[in-house]
Amino acid sequence: MRVVMLGAPGSGKGTQAKQLVQAYGAPQLSTGDLLRAAVKAASPIGLRAKAAMDAGKLVSDDIVLGLIEERLGGPDGLHEFILDGFPRNLAQAEALETLLGRLSLSLQAAILIDVSAEELKRRIAGRRTCRDCGAIYNVYTAPSAREGVCDACGGETYQRSDDNESTVAQRLATYAAETAPLVEFYRAAGKLHTVDGEQPVDTIFVELRKIAKVLS
Ligand code: AP5
Repeated sequence: MRVVMLGAPGSGKGTQAKQLVQAYGAPQLSTGDLLRAAVKAASPIGLRAKAAMDAGKLVSDDIVLGLIEERLGGPDGLHEFILDGFPRNLAQAEALETLLGRLSLSLQAAILIDVSAEELKRRIAGRRTCRDCGAIYNVYTAPSAREGVCDACGGETYQRSDDNESTVAQRLATYAAETAPLVEFYRAAGKLHTVDGEQPVDTIFVELRKIAKVLS
């Protein structure tokens, strides 16, 4: 499986990507997770990325493309992947096409999870993430059994620092200006599949399975 998960912040890309990993075994590649790990480690990439992430803006293309190239390019590169949060603008989408062309691979689908702005804000406000295994919860719709403790691994759950009101407003504006044009990009390429993201998690996943069935 070689797919891109498209959608606004909080639309459920990560939640669905994790289910796809379990069902199909293709690895999830989340640029957000990679960047947060770099910030946590205070690596040179993390130090460069932090300010943009805190401001709800995009990290520069050279950093993000470097992370993707590292994982997809080269002799041990992944041939299957679920890209979550990448590409995020036209330059990244075109760079992905070039990279895949060089590797004689092609993207099979871009799956847009469509959610209204009001629902996005509610989801982001309630999101909690496990520090250890990355499991995603929501205090309103999908809480862990014990508050603050991950059901899957017992790790601590926390609220992301960019999940605050002012950063979320900027993240949504960044999505509208820079990422939303990718919907047309992938529609024109005949690769776009749109799913109503306001349905229950499991119902959305049933739709993703149907899409996965017809991937060539
Ligand atoms: P990133 O980590 O990619 O954040 P994002 O795109 O803002 O997406 P989110 O992780 O917020 O949401 P999601 O769609 O995965 O939703 P989730 O499944 O968690 O990026 C963070 C930052 O890194 C960016 O702002 C940027 O600075 C930088 N960055 C990353 N990639 C970059 C790139 N390529 N280029 C440049 N910069 C980049 O779900 C959200 C909540 O909703 C959860 O609580 C979940 O339980 C709940 N939920 C999910 N589905 C449902 C449902 N169906 N019904 C009810 N609740 C649901």
